[in-house]
Amino acid sequence: MRNAFGSAKEEIRQRINLVDLVSAHVTLRKAGRQYKGLCPFHQEKTPSFHVDPDRGLFYCFGCHAGGDAFDFVMRIANQSFSEALAALAERTGVVLPHTPEETRDRSEREQMLRALDAAATFYREQLAGEGGEVARAYLKRRGVDAETTERFGLGYAPEQWEALLRALRPKGYPAALLEHAGLAQARSGGDGHFDLFRHRLIFPIQDLQDRTVGFGGRALDESTPKYLNSRESLTFNKGRLLYALNRARDAIREVGEVIVVEGYMDVLTCHQFGIRNVVASLGTALTGDQVLLLRRFAPRVVVVYDSDAAGMLASERGLHLFEEAELPVRVAALSPGRDPDSFLRREGTEEFRTFIEKSLSMFDFHVAQALGRHDTRTLEGRVALADELLPVIGSVANPVRQSEYLRALAERFGFSEDALRRRLAARSRPTRGAAGEPGPSPVPATKKRREAERFLVRMMVQVPEARKVIRRDLSVQDFLDPLHHTLAQVLMGEDVPAETLRERLAGTESVELLMQLLFEPIGAEEKDKEKVLAEYVRFLQRLVPAEEERRRLSRAIEEAQAAGDEAGVRRLQMVYQRLVSAGATGGFPGKGGEEHGQEEGAGAGSGN
Ligand code: UTP
Ligand code: MN
Repeated sequence: MRNAFGSAKEEIRQRINLVDLVSAHVTLRKAGRQYKGLCPFHQEKTPSFHVDPDRGLFYCFGCHAGGDAFDFVMRIANQSFSEALAALAERTGVVLPHTPEETRDRSEREQMLRALDAAATFYREQLAGEGGEVARAYLKRRGVDAETTERFGLGYAPEQWEALLRALRPKGYPAALLEHAGLAQARSGGDGHFDLFRHRLIFPIQDLQDRTVGFGGRALDESTPKYLNSRESLTFNKGRLLYALNRARDAIREVGEVIVVEGYMDVLTCHQFGIRNVVASLGTALTGDQVLLLRRFAPRVVVVYDSDAAGMLASERGLHLFEEAELPVRVAALSPGRDPDSFLRREGTEEFRTFIEKSLSMFDFHVAQALGRHDTRTLEGRVALADELLPVIGSVANPVRQSEYLRALAERFGFSEDALRRRLAARSRPTRGAAGEPGPSPVPATKKRREAERFLVRMMVQVPEARKVIRRDLSVQDFLDPLHHTLAQVLMGEDVPAETLRERLAGTESVELLMQLLFEPIGAEEKDKEKVLAEYVRFLQRLVPAEEERRRLSRAIEEAQAAGDEAGVRRLQMVYQRLVSAGATGGFPGKGGEEHGQEEGAGAGSGN
């Protein structure tokens, strides 16, 4: 990986004075080891933009912009990496061995990205060309106009086995590379490759830098699957992407809200109808990473799914994800078989907006759904209802909101609030460590766990000695939060400086966390940090296996989701539901039949 060009970059990094560089754009004030000023990348009145001259990094706590000198120049001057490299080379007097364009030795990832980009161009040309007639007719039939087609870079994969392979080979993209990029597959006999996308309408999937990282391809006939998606690869991680976020980000910021729909076509139609703060989750089970991504762009979320998918999302797991992220979310459920695309085309933009305004908070939505399953005129029905809702309330991290939910539940169905509280406390007790803690709240251990994980990761980032202790007493598996997990994986390996860490994590969500941790002051309790560290280590060692199991399932769901295994996702979600309900209803045997009914209800109508 290290080549002449990499060492030039290193050389520049060592020579550059980041404070000088930044000072041309920001008035900096010294604050301890670092410098502070008003962030040039967003509007603010109090300085949250920090520069660390020793590490050569900057970070803004307000808008989360961060990086090294290269990132700063790229961002402030709106330049590509090679332009920034050239500018900084000149500034520092470092001679570049080749211009970046000439540099043959690119990382595989970069090569893949170029191949994906070339493929997107090829598909686009095919759509416009002679062979694209069928696809153009299809778009016309579905009412997708020329502007939308262009804006989303739609394309057509011809009905041939090697069209893409043949077109890209002479341009320097060999079959093996296309295979890695998820565009081609080796024939089973071992002789040659074939195109994966054939006779499909192509939706390029882009990241936030507008780079094509994967594709979705819709069948133009009855072949299955209806949508073929790129496999997971170095560049394509479905669970960490939201379709069209790059196209929607400005509108999302403007409106202060993001609308999440299920499908590619739903996004296209929304945008075409003037609703542009819309992204798609590419499947039903939103992942924790996607929720965090949403939170980076919007203070509020509305999910518009059909009723099955919405029900699945509002189950405890989905609610928990949004609660943990402290991201308010509402749910608008369409009747089975409908989607935003068909809604908008039948009823228009105004009706759609009205429909969204009528959406319920995810908790209210869950209550409404549960009401449909239980007869609240009977005592038994009301008890069953409470038992279904308590785990959901238990997963609410914010104690104030949790308390409000309990009160609302008690009031609405005539329960004693006190009894509900005791029932909730009873079910969450096993996950609490210390019995004699003052004012034990019924919140499950997850919040404290995240706190512990975060503290420990921060210590590993900031204090090299802490790594030794943590390596000795914990394993990577003890870090369950996916962001913490990724960081711990790198930190618990060999010792690497902050700058290298950032490069290792490039392109993952964890890089953002790393920057935050690097710039977060250790704080006043500095003296106690060893004690706190030991406490948190012990806390993580003690946690009960039930939570492990829950977390393991949660991850398995995300993996199945990433692999496009919809049936697997649903099956695992059922297991998850059961695990959670078992924890909640342990004292009340004989509820099995009902759970089963729920499973059948949710399993039916699973798309297509
Ligand atoms: P739908 O089956 O609801 O399709 O899947 P759709 O979006 O309404 O598509 P049209 O209108 O029939 O063209 C919703 C989403 O689930 C994913 C896709 O992201 C799709 O847009 N999906 C669906 C797949 O990944 N694979 C499939 O086989 C089906
Ligand atoms: Mn549809």
